[in-house]
Formats: sequence, C-alpha cells, structure tokens
Amino acid sequence: MTLHFPLARPADDPLAPPEIFRRLRDREPVTMATLWDGSRAWLVARHADVRAVLRDLPVSADITRPGFPRIFPLQQALPQGERPPFVLMDPPDHDVLRKLINADFVVRRIEALRPRIRRLVDEHVDAMLAGPRPADLVRAVALPVPSTVICWLLGVPVAEQGAFNEWTSTAIDATSTPERRAHAYGAIGGLLDRLLAEKEHRPGDDMLTRLARHVTSGAVSRHDALTTAMLILIAGHETTANMIALGTLTLLGHPEQADALRDDPGLAPNAVEELLRYLSIVDGVIGRVALEDFTLAGRQVRAGDGIVVLIPSANRDPGVFDDPDTLDLRRPARRHVAFGYGLHQCLGQPLARVELQVTLTTLLRRVPGLRLAVPMSELTFKQNDGVYGVRSLPLTWNEEN
Ligand code: HEM
Repeated sequence: MTLHFPLARPADDPLAPPEIFRRLRDREPVTMATLWDGSRAWLVARHADVRAVLRDLPVSADITRPGFPRIFPLQQALPQGERPPFVLMDPPDHDVLRKLINADFVVRRIEALRPRIRRLVDEHVDAMLAGPRPADLVRAVALPVPSTVICWLLGVPVAEQGAFNEWTSTAIDATSTPERRAHAYGAIGGLLDRLLAEKEHRPGDDMLTRLARHVTSGAVSRHDALTTAMLILIAGHETTANMIALGTLTLLGHPEQADALRDDPGLAPNAVEELLRYLSIVDGVIGRVALEDFTLAGRQVRAGDGIVVLIPSANRDPGVFDDPDTLDLRRPARRHVAFGYGLHQCLGQPLARVELQVTLTTLLRRVPGLRLAVPMSELTFKQNDGVYGVRSLPLTWNEEN
C-alpha cells in the first residue's frame, strides 16, 4: 500500500490524530511514504524511535541538504541559496545562533513576565466580554496574546504593535491570498530590519537590541539576525495561538476536567502538558535527512533518505502513556514530545507554558458559562498546514458575566 503524507485527522473526531497512526505503531513503526511533491520519506511512529531520530541518530535538520523532506508546499518557499533560520540548520551554526537568544527564554526570565501576561490576558478577556456574543476566541484572545508577548520580547515599540499584530495574523492565515501573505511577511521583515538598525542608536532591554549588538561586534551577520527574529515570531505565534484555541475547545468538550482545573489552579502546569500531548499540534513539520546508513525498528535507512517524525503518534504511544487516547489532566504527561526533543527542542517552551497556563485558567475562571456557539461539525480545522489549529472558534457565555 502506498502511504501519502501528510494525512488528515479524522473528520468525526478532529482533535484525534489520523487513525492509521495506531496501525503504524503496531505493525510498521518505520515506513516509507510519498510526499505531496512525489518524493519519498520514512515516517517514524513510535515514541522511542522519534526520540532516537531527534537526539541520537546521525541525521541533519539542514533544509538545504539534498533529500531533506519538503513536507508542505510552503517549505518550498525558501529562496534558493539563502541561509535558513537556525531551526533548519545543524551545529555549529545552529548552536551559535541559538546561544545568542537563549538567555531570553530561561525559566526565571519568563516567570518574571507572568504578572504582565496575566494583565494582558485579562484585558483581552475584558474586551471580549464587553463585545457582542458570540465572539471568535482566535481573534479576541488566541492570536493577539502571543503576538503582543513576542513584541515585548523583541522590543517592538507599542505604537507599532497594532500593525505588527495585523501583519502576523495575515501572514499565518492560510486563507489569505499568497500575495497578501507575501506582502505581510515583507512588511514584518521590513519593520524588524528597520528596528534592528534603530536599536543600534536607541538600545533597549530586548532581543532586537542584543541581536543588533551582535551584528555590530561582527559575531553574526545582519541576515542571520533578521532571520532569527523572524523565526521567533513565526515559531512562537501560530503554535501558541493554535494551542490556546484548541486547548479551550478540548476543555469545553471535557467539562468534568475543566471543572477540576477551575477548582484547582495548581493543576494548570500538568494540565497544559497533557493538552500539549493530547493535541500534538506540530503534526507534520519535523523533518530530518539521514547523514549515514543506520537501522531503525528493523528498517534500513540510507544516507540521504528523508525522515518525518510523527509527533501526534509518539504522544499517543501506549508503551509510554497509559490509555493514551483519554484526556487526563492529572496524568504524568511530561515525557511528551510536543516541543520536539534533543538539539532543536523548542526554545520558547517556558514562554508557551506560561501563556497557556494563564490563558486557559483565566478563561475558565472568568467566563464560567463559556461554551461553543456552533456545533463542532461547523468548525473549520487547519488540515495539513504543519501546525494543527482551528480557523475560528465562536464562543458564547452567560449574560451575568
Ligand atoms: C505551544 C506552543 C509551541 C509548540 C507546540 C512548539 C513546538 C516546537 C517544536 C516541536 C520544535 C522543534 C522543531 C524541530 O525539532 O525541528 C520547536 C522549535 C522551536 N520553537 Fe517552539 N513551539 C511552541 C512555542 C514556541 C514559542 C512561544 C517560541 C518563541 C517565542 C518558540 C520558538 C521556537 C524556536 C526558536 C525553535 C527552534 C529551536 C532550535 O532549532 O534549536 N516556540 N517548537
């Protein structure tokens, strides 16, 4: 049987991974598939094998290498010969660039932002409650919260944040035309480039200032500084936004678990890990190419073969998680690979955790009558975008709120 990838999630259970992943884990944990452009790549379905690919085996994350799997047409968009962002690079270049901004994401620094993130979420919830019902949670909260926090980190001035938020939501909106998206990306790149130049003369305590200093000292090229800033924006915006919307939707579908979280906010850190595991929104963008021949789950992988790790499958591996298809906010979920694993493990995970903990608990606490305003079957999901999500999430609530 020829397996085509990416695969759609089940229409009748859109929060579950593709049904076939169960069979792959049981019977063909490493198997060949055909990608959208006709090229072939290995799919890796089990938790242990996914971790081995991401940490231990001789593979490369360098998208410019022959054989690197282009999983989505969008990945084809990288201009020929241009250096990619560091998520698609190998050491030593990857490590040099990651180290430049590592300190911005350490837990202590991100925790210091928690009170400010609380106020930001409260403001957006206030505005939503003051507006008409139903409201689209994606536009009202899920997109603007992470986008504004990224503005703080990068050092985008308040006066420019409105335009920045507009462009970022257009840029990641697969329903806007390619021209509009390209225009939005161009505008973001232009703004970040201008800010990098300005920060040399008017420094702040922010990431763009630090990157500008590294450009001045010659530690990094202007191109790499700009690409790094764009990476933070792209990696940190849609992922967190999709998790906020889908996390809310999941909790609304599991009222007893939502009650448990509302009654015990101390459950929030574990609840977020479980939602990350259960939803596994990064469901197709993680590719690698083999640098040497090796055997994986009995299959012979050759140097130059493309590999795609199936994060949603690994996160539902019954060998690691008991009863994996059940959402259980109290289960030990920390071994999930929703943030990847190894060298490229998500740099922004401390921030994503805080944003999700604050947003989900605030919504439950402040809007107790919160519910879907349309039947689940009317929601449109972002299938095959690389990061799973819902395009809009119409919610309503009780009037007394
Ligand atoms: C729920 C939200 C998020 C999820 C599920 C997520 C998931 C991931 C995953 C799976 C990877 C690994 C990619 C690979 O191995 O090829 C990754 C890498 C990365 N993420 Fe996240 N991410 C999230 C939020 C964020 C945020 C908020 C930021 C920053 C503001 C961020 C910045 C990055 C960066 C810079 C990398 C590249 C790391 C490297 O190559 O060393 N992410 N993310």
